[in-house]
Amino acid sequence: MKAAVFREVGQPLEVEEVSISKPGPREVLIRTAAAGVCHSDLHFVEGLYPAVTPMVLGHESAGIVEQVGSSVIYVKPGDHVITCLSVFCGHCEQCVTGHMSLCENPELRRGKDEQPRLMQDEKPMQQFANLSSFAEQMLVHEHAIVKIREDMPLDRAALIGCGVTTGIGSVFHTAAVEPGSTVAVIGCGGVGLSCINGAALVGAGQIIAIDTVASKLELAKTFGATDVINAADVDPVEQVKELTNGGVQYSFEAIGLKTTAEQSFRMLRAGGTATIIGMIPVGVKIELTGSAFLQEKKIQGSNMGSNRFRIDMPRFIEFYLAGKLHLDEMISKRISLGDINEAFVDMKSGSVARSVIMFDH
Ligand SMILES: NC(=O)c1ccc[n+]([C@@H]2O[C@H](COP(=O)([O-])OP(=O)(O)OC[C@H]3O[C@@H](n4cnc5c(N)ncnc54)[C@H](O)[C@@H]3O)[C@@H](O)[C@H]2O)c1
Ligand SMILES: [Zn+2]
Ligand SMILES: [Zn+2]
Repeated sequence: MKAAVFREVGQPLEVEEVSISKPGPREVLIRTAAAGVCHSDLHFVEGLYPAVTPMVLGHESAGIVEQVGSSVIYVKPGDHVITCLSVFCGHCEQCVTGHMSLCENPELRRGKDEQPRLMQDEKPMQQFANLSSFAEQMLVHEHAIVKIREDMPLDRAALIGCGVTTGIGSVFHTAAVEPGSTVAVIGCGGVGLSCINGAALVGAGQIIAIDTVASKLELAKTFGATDVINAADVDPVEQVKELTNGGVQYSFEAIGLKTTAEQSFRMLRAGGTATIIGMIPVGVKIELTGSAFLQEKKIQGSNMGSNRFRIDMPRFIEFYLAGKLHLDEMISKRISLGDINEAFVDMKSGSVARSVIMFDH
């Protein structure tokens, strides 16, 4: 099968022939239909997060089941699925207490003595996030997929695989935003726009979108932003305080920068909570003013929107089909696998919400 291979930091991915193993007892082979390009993939290409190479990147996808392992009863060939990197075991302490996105059970991957899921010329090829979606096929654990209704278009379904679940889940689950509260979202890419959409869904009162690209702020209004701030022109912290008479109850950082993470904390009102979704580069420390804790200001991380994806993703599909989730507007470009490097360039410029790779088999 064809896959986009990442070999060296800063170098373009190359579309190459990669071989894929047969499903083990609890594995599922999927024909990839669509894969979104998320900024997390780019962080690895840029070396901000370490990776063992060669590796097939990609982790936001949907497809059709082709073959299942001997113990799999959840899906059958022909079923439509969304993948999720939050593969869960279902029996560890995190899973049993409802924190399935924090499951770290290594049994979900193939062991060192087993044949790797992906190979090239008899050598192992690393699987990114237990998925590797920038490829015509994926071989995954059965707990890395959710079955979905077949009338859901697979390109829009793919977005739910990471960015949408991360953004909405951060609002619903991680921060548990209440109706009527004030929200600010810094960064209006696929993840930030989904936060805005999530805040609108829970009935947040004021939803302030912050970006440095004017077209993104226009798009943010479509997703439910009530106010927008261009951080290229003004200090977003001062502006948020002015718009809310002192600061927001909830802020979300959806970029992955030290400065914007610090801004997200500084724009809180007393008792407020900042949720950091962006992947702050490894080794970077963020600084907070200690006395702010006397005002009960809080800061927390969010991993994949603290999801329980087998429940969440089908619900998000229902939101989309009811016209409440703006997935059509999120796809800026439909591209082919060979266009992946241009998609990264577009992403860096901030000009796109999402590029989606379409696989026409
Ligand atoms: N925590 C998780 O589980 C999780 C999951 C998915 C993605 N992420 C991370 O979330 C972040 C966002 O991902 P994405 O795919 O939406 O990225 P993106 O590149 O599509 O969007 C980022 C947006 O931020 C804007 N921006 C850049 N610098 C800015 C600044 N200084 N001030 C205001 N806006 C600025 C850009 O114009 C762009 O619109 C990334 O760090 C990604 O790795 C985390
Ligand atoms: Zn992602
Ligand atoms: Zn577990």
